[in-house]
Amino acid sequence: MKTKISRRSFIKSGIGAGTAAIFSGGKKGSGMQRNRGKKVVISSANGQRATEKAMQLLDEGLDPLDAVIAGVNIIESDPEDMTVGYGGLPNEDGVVELDASVMHGPTHNGGAVASIRNIKNPSKVAKLVMERTAHALIVGRGALRFAKNHGFKEENLLTDRARKIWLKHKEQLSDQDFWYPPKSKKLESRVRSFVESHGTINCCVLDANGDLASVTTTSGFFFKIPGRVGDSPIIGAGLYVDNDVGAAGSTGLGEANILTCGSNMVVEFMRDGFSPEEACLRALKRIIAKSKLWPERLDSKGLPRFDVNFYAVNKKGEYAGTAIWKGRYYSVNDGKENKLKPSAYLFERP
Ligand code: GLY
Repeated sequence: MKTKISRRSFIKSGIGAGTAAIFSGGKKGSGMQRNRGKKVVISSANGQRATEKAMQLLDEGLDPLDAVIAGVNIIESDPEDMTVGYGGLPNEDGVVELDASVMHGPTHNGGAVASIRNIKNPSKVAKLVMERTAHALIVGRGALRFAKNHGFKEENLLTDRARKIWLKHKEQLSDQDFWYPPKSKKLESRVRSFVESHGTINCCVLDANGDLASVTTTSGFFFKIPGRVGDSPIIGAGLYVDNDVGAAGSTGLGEANILTCGSNMVVEFMRDGFSPEEACLRALKRIIAKSKLWPERLDSKGLPRFDVNFYAVNKKGEYAGTAIWKGRYYSVNDGKENKLKPSAYLFERP
């Protein structure tokens, strides 16, 4: 007997399933061994509480995507992290705009929201886009309306601390306007280090069944032009998952990453047999090679002025955190311990 398939369920599952079969050549786990029950959660350095929480939830049997979303929700809700969610630094108009994406390996499905205002957990909204619509990305006012329709409450995401830093930034932009210079030019040192490192959180997971998932969430570039969207909500750039191969995600300068579809590239390098670390470093080298066409991004020695970080885990449970520049860290929980590790890197600053 034929099963009736609606246009909507065809779009959401039919094409997805067909595409996965084409990309994997119809062979499950081609080129990759199973992980024999290994569990790994990795994240950017600001995600130690996320990796801890996600592992705890995996142990309780939660779906891997739900586990990492619950992990990053802690950071999204924390006003102390000024690069993600509530308390994130605003755009140039003083408004916090958030980007997030999710991808679920077992169903090869994903969802994202971009430039969403007033909702502190955009990763949860991204998951609803994946689960409850035939779309992959909803932006701006449409994303806010969608979130409210699903019961999310609007709240002001601009904390006093973020507002004061934004004001100081405005005051020191120019001596050709009506703003007096700030009384002190110094930004707080913790904020300065966020500004330099760009922030954002990505969290990737491999569960004991060999299933993968990933989430990336951010308040984006500080003081960005309103409506600017970074790499975080762009599936293929800010994250990518192929349940036959591995999961990858990024933080750092989104524009450089978008223009090379970095996370997809990392997963494809892993499919070709490279370890997560080699795959990430190769993708970083590609970003740098392409940046040579954009001289403003390079210093006088031709080295990148920016940083991009990739985090990746493969089907076997091997993982890596990497950066263009030495000095970055990533958080990993392998089921035994939850700790920060130094990222592999391409260059050391003099
Ligand atoms: N990687 C985060 C952003 O550029 O918005």
